[in-house]
Amino acid sequence: VASDRFLKAFLASLKSTGFYSPEHPACVAAFQELAQAAAGLLQDKDSFYIGVVGKELVINGIPQFQQISIYARIVELLHRRGIEKMTFARDLAAEELKILVLLLPQEGAGGGGDFNRQLQEVGVTHITTGRLSTGKSEAKADQTHHFDLAEQNYASGLEAIQEINHLVRERRVVKGGDVSSLARMLVRGIRENQGTLMTILNLHSKDEYTATHCLDVALLTMVQASRLRLDEGTLAEVAAAGLLHDLGKLLIPDEVLNKKGPLDPAEWELMREHPRLGAELIHGIPGVGDLAYIAAYEHHIRLDHSGYPPRRRTLPLHSFSLMVAIADVYDAMRSRRSYQDEQPPEKAAGVLFKGAGTHFHPVLVRRFLDEVGTFGLGSVVSLDSGEVAVVVANNPGWPSRPVVQVIMDEAGREVGGKRINTADDDVVVSVERSLPVDGSFRDRLRDVDFGA
Ligand SMILES: [Fe+2]
Ligand SMILES: [Fe+2]
Repeated sequence: VASDRFLKAFLASLKSTGFYSPEHPACVAAFQELAQAAAGLLQDKDSFYIGVVGKELVINGIPQFQQISIYARIVELLHRRGIEKMTFARDLAAEELKILVLLLPQEGAGGGGDFNRQLQEVGVTHITTGRLSTGKSEAKADQTHHFDLAEQNYASGLEAIQEINHLVRERRVVKGGDVSSLARMLVRGIRENQGTLMTILNLHSKDEYTATHCLDVALLTMVQASRLRLDEGTLAEVAAAGLLHDLGKLLIPDEVLNKKGPLDPAEWELMREHPRLGAELIHGIPGVGDLAYIAAYEHHIRLDHSGYPPRRRTLPLHSFSLMVAIADVYDAMRSRRSYQDEQPPEKAAGVLFKGAGTHFHPVLVRRFLDEVGTFGLGSVVSLDSGEVAVVVANNPGWPSRPVVQVIMDEAGREVGGKRINTADDDVVVSVERSLPVDGSFRDRLRDVDFGA
């Protein structure tokens, strides 16, 4: 594959320049191969990038798991400079790559932004690097780093899904390995950073039927499954089930999918085909487990067996299909749709609560709300004291009484720090409702410590 070839050539260039002078035939050959590999990646794209998420290397969002140990050297070099992302743009010259290879390992060269400037100064304009934010106290920087990491995890996930969806739409081959690499990255993300990931998910603006929906349903299904003590492989299968649940929609014409008004009977008939179509598509991806296949087929069948496709009562639904169904309905309500605005989290939670026992499995609804809470993590909420706060943790068993951090007093003055556990016995304050969040607020959240 093109990305693999590029990383190998990058590594080979680094190695040979470590042994020989840049004019040595071995280096010249390595540089040549590197330039060709880059050209291959830029053939049908304006740019591509290498990213570091934790200890993992990603290219255009696709994690390169198989090669972790081989590419450790590249990860280490980027890490040392705090470079999280290195972007290569179209019209990149072979000379620029050569300079990069020579400059990157040099002791004393600057980190992130400085390195970027350094590259520019020597005429490298088609390669740019991004760095981690600094200049804060260590604890805060750590917190911000957490947030950045989760955000990067989320963004990489989106890109990888877009790539997969693109292949399906073009009727090209999807590699099961790409799906499972992505799924495994999400498993790690959830294990290490669940609260922050949930916050990002909650605050993201969403459109239905897009990569966001696939990723969110995957994460919201994993959150339900994460307490089941599943091994990593099974949890990755759960992630894949969420990621691929609506794959069949890629075969539904856009006019039907994005129609503003209600669907007519023929269109509705078509729409109801997407679970079956999705299951068939998944069947054609080698290496994706049965769980994804089953969940795609069953995710619109309700607990009482209403919904679609039609189902005999005697045939029970898979419990992971029921989890995907909960995640799906919740996320759809939280998304902007062609015929409806996004709904506040407490309303989406209310729909689950009301449907528990008929549409949804009541135990699973309770578990979902234990994790996600009535108001979602990271939501800005008004308290009945008149203060404004951010939800920073949920209390299992009492989803409507989260832990909050007050950010504005009753007079509307900004304050920081005070945490209230609204579930505590001696606390009389409670959350009234969630408030719409604007973009500028996101930056303030980077410093919030999510967790009880
Ligand atoms: Fe669906
Ligand atoms: Fe869906």
